[in-house]
Amino acid sequence: MSSLLFTPIQLGPLVLKNRSIRAAAFEGMCPSHSISKALIDYHLAVARGGVAMTTIAYAAVDKTGLSFPHQLLMQESMQSDLKKMAEVIHRENTALSIQLGHCGDMAKHGLIGQRPWSASSHLNLYAPCFAKEMKESDMQYVANNFVKATQIAINSGLDAIEIHAGHGYLISQFLSPYTNQRQDAYGGTLENRMRFMSMVMSAILAVAKNKIAVLVKLNMRDGFDAGMPIEESIQVSKRLESLGVDALVLSGGFVSKAPMYVMRGKMPIKTLASRMDNKMMEVFTKLFGKQLVPDVPFTENYFLSDALRFRAALTLPLIYVGGILSQQNIDEVLDNGMDAVAIARALIRNPNFINELKNDASFKVSCDTCNHCMAVMYNGPFECNKTGGYHG
Ligand SMILES: Cc1cc2nc3c(=O)[nH]c(=O)nc-3n(C[C@H](O)[C@H](O)[C@H](O)COP(=O)(O)O)c2cc1C
Repeated sequence: MSSLLFTPIQLGPLVLKNRSIRAAAFEGMCPSHSISKALIDYHLAVARGGVAMTTIAYAAVDKTGLSFPHQLLMQESMQSDLKKMAEVIHRENTALSIQLGHCGDMAKHGLIGQRPWSASSHLNLYAPCFAKEMKESDMQYVANNFVKATQIAINSGLDAIEIHAGHGYLISQFLSPYTNQRQDAYGGTLENRMRFMSMVMSAILAVAKNKIAVLVKLNMRDGFDAGMPIEESIQVSKRLESLGVDALVLSGGFVSKAPMYVMRGKMPIKTLASRMDNKMMEVFTKLFGKQLVPDVPFTENYFLSDALRFRAALTLPLIYVGGILSQQNIDEVLDNGMDAVAIARALIRNPNFINELKNDASFKVSCDTCNHCMAVMYNGPFECNKTGGYHG
């Protein structure tokens, strides 16, 4: 069977030239929350490497949703820089997407100047913080900021937005029974836990439908016993389909409870500790890192069997992410009915991965999933342990 990889795919109003997308993976290249030359150069290198679309990661829609000082914050003043970036990427015949999110209880008090918000009040050792339960007016405020951020992406000529509804960030904190213990219309039943997500998505789609592709990154499972199980997540995905989103990116894991479930493999604890923003967190990470961030074994295409349950339940385009290192991995995903693949670590190791496949279908990226790239991004730009950066 010939590979579907180099065939086009439509996601709402957007047609991609092939089925490969650079997954949202935090670059750590936005000092003072702004677009930098390094960020543009990095994504230009990725675009030249052959993917159909590259994704700016983890942009916060509002100051209350920031985790890092070197993280992008969506503001009207950035529009001209974002427009310039889109033009640079489009010149390579590559689409540009941006991931929009709010980290909820992963925010840093020192950075946002207030107690972090979440679905319910609770202690989050990973931030660390004691999160405050959001009022309905807070939820409306965040939903409005998702819409403002969407409008900035549209005005800047981007091709897609990816709403972060997974990995234990704010929308995921509402969906998950682990972090949502509310007694009101936003907690309890799954219908209630989906209400904040539906509020945000309906508001976004009202301004974005048919103007820009609207993707949602979603957990298939939170990845631990008290989290959201796959049966509920399939219901969530059906709701997103009925609301009219253009595609889902299927992931899993919860940063404050099952962080390695997202990406698998080992977390280099010593490197992670050395990147903490204060001495107390460094010592804490050294002492308890192994227990708080337990290893989860890596296998290629580790999310595929779960993703196929979503394929069977849905008709909208589905984007697979998790453990792709070769064309054999990509073909297995596409031949099983997924519409496109998103790739993070293989492209961090080698941004030219997709072009390499054009020349040699047996090419395999030599990423050993050591996750150094993840550990270092806490206080600086990510880098690959092997290449030291990227082949710009
Ligand atoms: C350095 C790094 C940063 C990441 N940052 C994000 C992020 O900002 N948003 C997100 O949704 N996922 C993030 N991820 C997860 C990836 O998007 C992806 O889901 C995961 O790495 C599995 O894909 P892979 O096996 O192709 O790496 C990150 C992963 C890495 C390695």
